[in-house]
Amino acid sequence: MTESSMGSFIHGLPKAELHLHIEGSLEPELMFELAKRNGIVVPYASVEEVRRAYEFTDLQSFLDVYYEGAKVLLEEQDFYDLAFAYIKKVSEQNVRHIEIFFDPQTHTDRGVSFETVIIGLRRALDDAQSQLDISSNLILCFLRHLSADAAMETLERAVPFRDWIAAVGLDSSELGHPPSKFERVFDKALSLNLKTVAHAGEEGPPDYIWQALDLLDVSRIDHGVRCLEDPDLVEVLRKKHLPLTVCPLSNVKLGVFKTLEDHNLKELLDAGLCATVNSDDPAYFGGYIEENFVAVQRALGLTRHHLYQLVRNSFEASFLSGEHQSELVRELDDYVGG
Ligand code: HPA
Ligand code: ZN
Repeated sequence: MTESSMGSFIHGLPKAELHLHIEGSLEPELMFELAKRNGIVVPYASVEEVRRAYEFTDLQSFLDVYYEGAKVLLEEQDFYDLAFAYIKKVSEQNVRHIEIFFDPQTHTDRGVSFETVIIGLRRALDDAQSQLDISSNLILCFLRHLSADAAMETLERAVPFRDWIAAVGLDSSELGHPPSKFERVFDKALSLNLKTVAHAGEEGPPDYIWQALDLLDVSRIDHGVRCLEDPDLVEVLRKKHLPLTVCPLSNVKLGVFKTLEDHNLKELLDAGLCATVNSDDPAYFGGYIEENFVAVQRALGLTRHHLYQLVRNSFEASFLSGEHQSELVRELDDYVGG
């Protein structure tokens, strides 16, 4: 298969994205537009200067820039515009279902209300369904560098919007903030019948993945690439068919792997794990989901079968109903068979 026919095969694949921070989809152009609309001064002279600042050495060096960028988001319409810009972009990449992380504390700590954030996002997701036939779920993430009490307070603010939220997650600075810190708040989320997920094994050790499984009862691990360091853990993940939401371009940008050729995605699949491909923070890491697929396919020489498996995994790992999952798998089978 030539490179361009593989590219068009990837483009046409119906896809799901399960690891996407909506604040990480803020493109510099929209950052400037919102800054102007809200009378906020951004510490960059131009779009080009913003893009030049996106040279990261590790997770923290990225998070510092990411939290700075989010300061332009103030009004409900800003959250709508942010989410709808992402939705429009991925609709052109044949994305059929999205599960979106949002970080309420990044906004509530600046005086923006929880309601403002979630109502703006929800309106965009409703329009995704009605205008573009893209289904979605929202995942509320707690910032793990903040306290467990602050996470609990955030969960309490979310209770009136329980029906708009599918799951809670854990993001931000991983090292030094193990899943165990959030056991109580995740217990409370589980008692509200929310699913749970957690970033673990991106920079942190396999033990953080064990903790996410044993203490937070997660349905998926976000990243999880360091699991291969622990064969017992791989065996448990495989047996439970517990999905990993892998983000190849992010991992290279943040130095988890030196190059894409060094990425362990193929080993994860070969080990029988339910790995998926996602973009994480596409505005900051140089690509949306399709660009992630294209780049990792080329770097690792993935076959059409690998790509089929990755997409199928993402439908099966989603929080969609069984019926909707089966419809999407059928769509995929029609695509590859046709
Ligand atoms: N890891 C942890 N926290 C994050 C990330 C990530 O890749 N992106 C946005 N918040
Ligand atoms: Zn992430």
